[in-house]
Amino acid sequence: MEVLVSYLTRKRDGAVASRNEVLTCEALSLGRSTDSEVELSGPGVLLHEGVIDRRPGGLFFQAATRTSAIIDGKVARNGPIGIGSHVKLGPYEIVVLNPPDGKDLAVSVELVQPMEDSLESLRRLSVTDLDRTGISKRAFAWASLIVILALFLAWPIFDRYGMREETAAPASVSNLAKTSQLSWPMSGDIVWTSGEISGSHKFIANNCAVCHERPFVKVQDNVCVTCHESVRHHVSPERFDLPQLTMALCQSCHKEHAGPTHIVLSEQTFCGSCHGNIKSIAAASEILNATDFGKDHPQFRPIVITDASTFAMDRLPLEPGKWPVEKSNLAFPHKKHLVASGVIVPGEKDRRVLECVDCHRLDAGGVGFRPTSMMTDCSSCHWLNFEYTAPQRVVPHGSIENAMLTIKEFYSDLALRGGAEIEDAPALVRRRPGTAPLTPEQRLEALAWAERKTKQAGDRLFSKQVCGACHEIQQHGDALTIAPVLLSTLWMPKAKFNHSKHATAPCTDCHNAPASETSADVLLPSVQVCQVCHGGEAASTRVPSTCIMCHDFHLEFQEVMREKVVRSGASARERSR
Ligand code: HEC
Ligand code: HEC
Ligand code: HEC
Ligand code: HEC
Ligand code: HEC
Ligand code: HEC
Ligand code: HEC
Ligand code: HEC
Ligand code: HEC
Ligand code: HEC
Repeated sequence: MEVLVSYLTRKRDGAVASRNEVLTCEALSLGRSTDSEVELSGPGVLLHEGVIDRRPGGLFFQAATRTSAIIDGKVARNGPIGIGSHVKLGPYEIVVLNPPDGKDLAVSVELVQPMEDSLESLRRLSVTDLDRTGISKRAFAWASLIVILALFLAWPIFDRYGMREETAAPASVSNLAKTSQLSWPMSGDIVWTSGEISGSHKFIANNCAVCHERPFVKVQDNVCVTCHESVRHHVSPERFDLPQLTMALCQSCHKEHAGPTHIVLSEQTFCGSCHGNIKSIAAASEILNATDFGKDHPQFRPIVITDASTFAMDRLPLEPGKWPVEKSNLAFPHKKHLVASGVIVPGEKDRRVLECVDCHRLDAGGVGFRPTSMMTDCSSCHWLNFEYTAPQRVVPHGSIENAMLTIKEFYSDLALRGGAEIEDAPALVRRRPGTAPLTPEQRLEALAWAERKTKQAGDRLFSKQVCGACHEIQQHGDALTIAPVLLSTLWMPKAKFNHSKHATAPCTDCHNAPASETSADVLLPSVQVCQVCHGGEAASTRVPSTCIMCHDFHLEFQEVMREKVVRSGASARERSR
């Protein structure tokens, strides 16, 4: 049959728009499914609502299985319909119209109960508006405004200007605390806070005026410097003109009000922004680039004493093949001392097994080691004796004059007292002690012998056997001297390293001391040794290590970044005028 379908849309002003469609079909099916002749969209519509077809008795509406429709006001599953019949399907209404010529059927389709309307009506039923409460809108608004103003404006202002006893300018931290004595546990302006204070500053979090000295004025660097007096530059402003480092405000790098940790600027990309290509910002620099410890970090360059005699030092890379050589003027073969079966100790029967800690004792902070010294670490085995008949008699270590004096005193005393059991001593010196006093000639003879022995012992002292075993002996004209000894205790000052934090790793992981035959060896670990355990900031299988784990930013050896401005006696209130 030929069907004319008119889709009607009712506008707000009541006018009706219609859109016509002509269909040819066996029967007119209605529903949400796309294969329906009349497609009814919307959530309240079933896929198949029903069918209108022509039967011998006339037009007939048949609802789809198990559904019902409202046919001319009655709920029914099916029934005959005629011109003027209304069939309600969900939110839609179908009206059978008089078909124009040539058409077998004409219907209009209209959405008579849109979803929005029903929601709207539900809402209207449930809302209680202010009118119904009996409270006037105006009074309520005024009351709220007063509360807000009191809490967020009057209290802070009153607290800032009315209550506080302002004294002299804050010149020190303790003074600073005094200038802002609070009358209650927190200051009124706390209601203006723009975010959580960082963990380190929690102790002043309730006292905004410590940092915000003046209302509506940015926090000044001088405030930070009041407490952080000795914050130093990263680079020397004279050597490198980098305003982004030397002129920058503290707060440009240290963000306050951003939670417990954010004041710490730890991202490696910050360091990498310059150190990724250092030449581009500091052409005069000779350091190498670094962006990520695991992937892109230069070889370490410790300070090596290249000649202790001239105090010459250099920063040399720990590059395999051209490993640096140290000249400290002190001989010390680690290998000869770190023998597994132990070493001979004079005067003792058993050998002693030496361990690193016998000579290298951690300092109080656990960062490095106390310097090794002859007296504490060597003298128990290396005796500075000079007379084999008196092996326990030793010279004091250090000054040659004192050593020679000790020897001279020993032999002179022996010569004058007598009783020496030394083979080459004359009879006079061997005489029994306590016999008749010496004549002046005998005295001279005895002392001449002592003089000779002192010279002999002195020569032996400077030989390889005693001082020369450990020291370089230098000839200065007639005199022999001990070449200056320089022992480094800080090899890598540009980074931090903490031994106690690595106590679980054996010393030999990082220092191949047992194989070292001479003190010329530099026994330090290269960057590759650290990279076994440490990766870059985002490492997952190694210890994630950002730059500031090993490096300070404000460097101890640079000058102070901001001089503290100490304001003269003017009170804080005068200053704010
Ligand atoms: C440790 C110092 C410090 C303390 C304490 C502190 N602030 Fe700040 N505050 C800053 C810095 C730094 C800034 C950023 C620079 C600026 O705008 O002055 C800032 C900015 C602000 C801003 C501006 C908004 C923004 O994020 O830039 C507000 C508002 C503020 N602080 C409120 C407070 C209040 C309220 C308190 C007390 C509860 C307080 N501050 C305590 C250091 C501090
Ligand atoms: C009233 C004193 C005081 C003032 C003012 C102050 N600080 Fe601090 N700050 C401290 C104390 C105390 C610590 C914690 C101890 C430390 O690390 O020195 C600290 C820690 C820090 C830290 C290290 C944070 C960490 O977790 O390692 C930074 C960065 C810092 N402050 C920056 C600033 C800046 C920037 C300002 C100025 C807006 C400022 N401070 C103002 C006292 C103060
Ligand atoms: C160009 C960026 C930058 C500027 C500007 C800056 N800092 Fe830092 N500061 C850092 C970095 C990076 C660190 C190391 C990581 C950390 O603890 O935040 C640091 C560390 C600190 C620390 C903790 C460690 C230490 O050395 O005591 C304090 C305190 C500090 N800065 C205070 C200040 C103060 C005060 C100023 C202003 C005079 C300032 N900083 C300016 C980047 C900066
Ligand atoms: C604005 C650029 C800039 C930023 C950002 C920067 N540096 Fe530097 N850094 C330099 C310059 C320039 C030098 C001086 C180079 C020289 O002395 O030859 C330097 C020197 C150093 C040195 C000393 C190197 C040496 O052998 O003397 C270290 C270590 C260092 N920076 C680490 C860091 C770390 C870690 C960070 C991040 C917390 C950082 N730098 C952020 C520019 C920067
Ligand atoms: C009998 C004492 C003694 C013992 C034991 C000893 N050392 Fe040393 N060590 C020294 C002396 C002295 C120096 C300084 C002279 C030198 O440069 O070799 C030194 C220097 C060092 C240095 C500095 C780097 C260098 O090249 O100078 C390291 C690292 C070191 N020792 C590691 C070790 C380790 C690891 C052990 C154990 C496996 C160990 N030492 C055992 C006496 C000792
Ligand atoms: C526990 C005893 C003991 C201690 C402590 C000791 N040494 Fe020795 N040292 C020896 C013995 C034993 C030898 C001889 C080893 C050999 O020849 O195989 C020796 C050999 C040496 C030699 C090599 C001498 C040569 O002629 O080859 C030097 C140099 C030396 N020690 C320096 C030192 C220094 C410096 C210290 C202190 C930091 C020290 N020793 C601590 C026992 C010790
Ligand atoms: C077993 C090795 C050993 C012997 C033997 C030895 N010394 Fe030393 N000497 C050291 C060590 C280690 C140091 C550096 C640490 C210290 O001062 O104790 C040193 C330092 C010195 C210094 C200081 C050098 C300077 O530049 O600071 C003098 C001087 C000195 N010794 C003189 C002597 C004299 C003189 C003798 C011989 C009587 C002697 N030493 C024998 C190990 C030895
Ligand atoms: C695991 C520790 C560690 C980490 C992480 C680390 N470094 Fe280093 N870095 C060192 C040591 C150690 C040295 C050698 C210091 C010395 O020679 O005094 C060094 C040296 C340097 C040098 C000097 C290079 C030269 O030419 O001599 C620079 C620049 C540097 N680091 C920057 C960085 C930067 C940027 C980062 C972050 C991407 C970083 N480092 C991360 C330990 C570390
Ligand atoms: C994870 C590697 C590592 C381990 C493990 C380690 N060290 Fe070191 N050691 C270093 C580094 C890095 C330095 C250079 C530090 C500096 O001077 O900045 C150093 C320096 C030293 C020095 C010379 C500096 C000084 O203070 O005299 C001695 C000595 C030393 N270590 C001995 C030892 C001994 C002993 C052990 C075992 C108890 C040990 N180390 C374990 C890495 C290590
Ligand atoms: C055997 C593995 C291992 C090696 C090798 C190693 N580290 Fe570490 N390192 C660690 C671990 C694990 C931590 C964390 C320790 C902690 O947080 O207590 C650490 C922590 C550190 C820290 C931070 C210490 C602190 O104060 O919190 C520094 C700096 C550091 N390492 C530097 C180095 C350097 C430089 C080297 C090479 C000479 C090195 N490490 C080699 C395992 C290692």
